[in-house]
Amino acid sequence: MLEFSVKSGAPEKQRTACLIVGVFESRRLTAAAETIDQVSDGFITAITRRGDMDGELGDTLLLHGVPNVQADRVMLVGLGKERELDTRGLVKATRAAVEALHHRGTAECVSHLSEIDVRGSSMEQVLRQSIVAIDDALYRFDELKTDRELGPRRPLRKVTFILPTRRELMEAERYVREATAISNGMRMAKNLANMPANLLTPTTMAEHARKMTETHLQLSVEVLDASRMESLGMHALLAVAKGSSEPPKLIVMEHMGADADTPPIVLVGKGVTFDTGGISLKPGPDMDQMKFDMGGAAATIGVMSAVAEMQLPINVVAIIPTVENMPDGAALKPGDVIRSMSGQTIEVLNTDAEGRLILCDALTYAARYKPAAIVDLATLTGACIIALGREPSAVLGNHNPLVKELIQAGETTNDRAWQLPLWDEYQDLLKSNFADMANIGGREGGSITAAAFLSRFVKEHHWAHLDIAGTAWKTGDAKGATGRPVPLLAEFLMQRARQRQEDNDGGTT
Ligand code: BES
Ligand code: MN
Ligand code: ZN
Repeated sequence: MLEFSVKSGAPEKQRTACLIVGVFESRRLTAAAETIDQVSDGFITAITRRGDMDGELGDTLLLHGVPNVQADRVMLVGLGKERELDTRGLVKATRAAVEALHHRGTAECVSHLSEIDVRGSSMEQVLRQSIVAIDDALYRFDELKTDRELGPRRPLRKVTFILPTRRELMEAERYVREATAISNGMRMAKNLANMPANLLTPTTMAEHARKMTETHLQLSVEVLDASRMESLGMHALLAVAKGSSEPPKLIVMEHMGADADTPPIVLVGKGVTFDTGGISLKPGPDMDQMKFDMGGAAATIGVMSAVAEMQLPINVVAIIPTVENMPDGAALKPGDVIRSMSGQTIEVLNTDAEGRLILCDALTYAARYKPAAIVDLATLTGACIIALGREPSAVLGNHNPLVKELIQAGETTNDRAWQLPLWDEYQDLLKSNFADMANIGGREGGSITAAAFLSRFVKEHHWAHLDIAGTAWKTGDAKGATGRPVPLLAEFLMQRARQRQEDNDGGTT
């Protein structure tokens, strides 16, 4: 597996297979490139003058035989216009450079891009985002191919980031450890979500969660089966499961990093291992992608892995309702009325709006933890992709400071979310003639009415909902899970941990 480290030092003195240095547009050199240019009697300016590298963001050029440097090779990478360079650009360039080296079979490299001062950015962000992006670039899901896809002969093993000064070393080493924990969580989320629905069922997902307690001793896991759900009155969740021969599970994971009496953050992840739509059957094209409908569950499990690996000093509980949504003689039908665990009755007008039915019982169950906040994440609505595309997740909630906190965490990690309104007026769209509410609100504002439905089950708590329908996976040639929103949620929880620590420090003085 890829190893990351940090150090400080002069570029010409790095003994490495490849040194990475940046070049801006209009031939402006970064400090490291400038140094290499000087010791090599203008080797780099000769190249930029010839027009072989004009500094366009993400362009790379590999150089051999650069005089008077210890590195075997030097890779130039374009950084675009100097005044426009932000963290996103710097990370994009770093990813491009390292990916190119990986495919050329370079085993290790030293990057001077981490030295560059980017306005409005911190070393923590640059290191974390770079590490996450590099791991993402090198990720492959090939465990189901007989001839594992032939990668490079010698894959990349080690990336070293250069820091501006030695003083930052200790801090930076911590950032690397944290980034690695987050990256590991994302890989777990991707592996789970990429797994096809014949291999990843509610039962095997629960097995996976149980297994995690072997490596993460701080985690505890409990799995509720259908009979437990029956006695708890989770008839909304159970109703979705009726059409499938796969039994449903409610996975509960706990990370207790703080005192037992500290209210936890509860994460709730939608775990529909396959969504056919049920009797309200989906059309055929692209239905394979509905194996990703457990992306919320996968990211929740990934976040718990990261939280446990970082040993965050807070309490976090994950609740994962997981089912398969299938059409069958026993399946839930349009018009059926069911009673949720909360006691509220629901008229099911469309069996394809199943996510909210399993989430509502999980949200009711969450209340028993007396949580400081509840955040659910779900591939909930196609309407979310229509409204926002695939760049941000949608975020809605009943407590604006919590929503803002999540948006900020998404900005910091480049795992962005965008708020949609959740005004009371939308509640009217859920009226039913036969039950307390319908499970759909019509075509208009589909993501909002879905959230409005969920809000009826969390009236007593601070709650936010992330609709990750557009962000949990990619389509087209790059089809596959993204591991989002693990970076956003990990940052949110790290901030909460920091906040708690500050409050505690304040309390003891
Ligand atoms: N899992 C889907 C949402 C989805 C669809 C996510 C496509 C990503 C891509 C969800 O269960 C669903 O089917 N939602 C319906 C709701 C509708 C029936 C009100 C939808 O979005 O069409
Ligand atoms: Mn559906
Ligand atoms: Zn679904």
